[in-house]
Amino acid sequence: MSKVLAVNGSPRAGGNTAAMLKTVLAVCEKAGHEIELYQAGGKPVRGCIACGGCGTHIGRCATDDWVNEIYKKMAEADAIILGSPTYFADLTPEIKAVIDRTGFVSRRDKMKFSRKIGAGVAAVRRAGSIHVIDSINHFFLINDMIIPGSSYWGMSLARDLGEYEKDEEGMETMKRLGENVVWLLEKLK
Ligand SMILES: Cc1cc2nc3c(=O)[nH]c(=O)nc-3n(C[C@H](O)[C@H](O)[C@H](O)COP(=O)(O)O)c2cc1C
Repeated sequence: MSKVLAVNGSPRAGGNTAAMLKTVLAVCEKAGHEIELYQAGGKPVRGCIACGGCGTHIGRCATDDWVNEIYKKMAEADAIILGSPTYFADLTPEIKAVIDRTGFVSRRDKMKFSRKIGAGVAAVRRAGSIHVIDSINHFFLINDMIIPGSSYWGMSLARDLGEYEKDEEGMETMKRLGENVVWLLEKLK
């Protein structure tokens, strides 16, 4: 049994990004893996302050808040799914804080994320989700991680609450992403 952690970067805990992540997690759970959905969106955001503290206190960000909690969960997970709604064609600040701060902490903690699986998903009304997914993938790629694909990019065309469930192709893409995470987990065992 492997651990699959999904992080919702939307402040709407019951929104489209959360529903997308739940589709991926449901497939992983059905295959027998342990799952967790972490609600990052809405938490107070503090960015990296470039203090270098993660180089002295290994495994910890000097700004001691929820990012240290999520870092521990990420360090223990075998697969990490980062989800963000598209905000002005970009990530939410909560996901950016996760990327910048856990990224530095992990690199100074013997590349803790090395060879974990990473996948990014983005909810979007109309445009900009590819940029969100690219930003998430850049984080995975520089951290020595392995990215599974799906039948489309990891996005869903949805604006209001519940619209993801009307996007059949988006739902299929999330389901296939879940299947590919499971497939990779088994191959990497
Ligand atoms: C501040 C803000 C900025 C947004 N910017 C974009 C955008 O650039 N492109 C777009 O298509 N939708 C944009 N949206 C719409 C959201 O991406 C969309 O409603 C998404 O489904 C929200 O996901 P959630 O339900 O997980 O919160 C924006 C919404 C907000 C609140």
